[in-house]
Amino acid sequence: MHKHHRALGLAAAPLGNVVADIAKSRPVQPVTLLRPHAARRAARFFVDNFPGRSLYAVKANPSPSLLQILWGEGVTHYDVASIGEVRLVHETLPEAVLCFMHPVKAEEAIAEAYFDHNVKTFSLDTIEELDKIVRATSTDGVAATDLNLLVRLQVNNEHAKLSLGAKFGAQAQDVRALLFAARQASDALGICFHVGSQTMSPTAYAEAMGRVRDAIVDASVTVDIVDVGGGFPSTYPGMEPPPLEAYFEVIHTTFEALPISYSAELWCEPGRALCAEYASLLVRVEKRRGSELYINDGAYGALFDAAHIGWRYPVELVREGGSKVRPMDFSFYGPTCDDLDHMAGPFQLPADVDAGDYIEVGMLGAYGCAMRTAFNGFGAERTEIVDDEPMATLYGSQAPARSNVVTL
Ligand SMILES: Cc1ncc(COP(=O)(O)O)c(C=O)c1O
Repeated sequence: MHKHHRALGLAAAPLGNVVADIAKSRPVQPVTLLRPHAARRAARFFVDNFPGRSLYAVKANPSPSLLQILWGEGVTHYDVASIGEVRLVHETLPEAVLCFMHPVKAEEAIAEAYFDHNVKTFSLDTIEELDKIVRATSTDGVAATDLNLLVRLQVNNEHAKLSLGAKFGAQAQDVRALLFAARQASDALGICFHVGSQTMSPTAYAEAMGRVRDAIVDASVTVDIVDVGGGFPSTYPGMEPPPLEAYFEVIHTTFEALPISYSAELWCEPGRALCAEYASLLVRVEKRRGSELYINDGAYGALFDAAHIGWRYPVELVREGGSKVRPMDFSFYGPTCDDLDHMAGPFQLPADVDAGDYIEVGMLGAYGCAMRTAFNGFGAERTEIVDDEPMATLYGSQAPARSNVVTL
């Protein structure tokens, strides 16, 4: 892995020169560009401003170097969803606190997490899962007394660009019995929910907190943890959310109004918001057919969401001499053999973009690099650390706006 810095004295040079240097080497494979400073900035923002504890949702990007960056900025708790993530984080950050927040787990995974990796915190949304957790963490038939159990509620996901609402979460009529039973089996009892990923309005959290309030009142149990989950947005073309402070404000106010004790803790589990700005991708155009560009990464690479849910990412042409031609809309085809490997976009680039050109695709740090497969023999092995700004940021105005052409 190489490090690229802006040359001393060139701070006012056109943005993207760092990336342009890499394009000059004419890489044949896509290159993953990492911006540790952007991940650091995001982590610091959550640690300093979220009115409670921020757990990093590892699924968004499980890269060990990212985990170390977040840890270095004070993120001490990690939301893990599989035994693979448990092992990875425990090995990378032995001191980290792991919370197993997938509501449907293998019994063997629960036992390994509890006994081998010191995991005490589990989420659940059914009595069957609660029984499973109790069984898997018992010793010689004696139930564990150190469990933190969070009951996941089903909540409205209509404010999110990516719903997680149908699959998990206890329905209103089942919550009372579940909270009651979980209270008996736990040291600390929590309630959690997920309002869906890339949630565009803070109202989503206010509504979900209303569900939490109803549940607590109805069950009359003492609740020690309220976990508002993930869903905090990043910024993409056509999806520019309100500032994160607005989300934190709503969460803080609604949390303060809950019928819970002074010592109750507020948690969140951001994935996307902590790492979207961390990575981008430099791809090469291998062919142009009208407004379709055949590039060397796609649906089976880091562009899964661009292909499967029509997500639009910011793009920049990285070309020697730049381009003065007006922009037009393009779609992308990825490198594999099937039609599914298509990203409709539209992606705005200068109208003269052609085979041999390089394009930077931004904001791929969350659910981008993490989704990559080696299908059909394509991949991106080269990784470079760069210190320029990501194409967009939710963290402050210090990042100057970038155009969609970078001159080499
Ligand atoms: C339980 C849980 N927590 C947190 C997250 C992270 O969500 P986001 O990346 O939208 O912040 C997810 C995403 O699927 C999740 O399932």
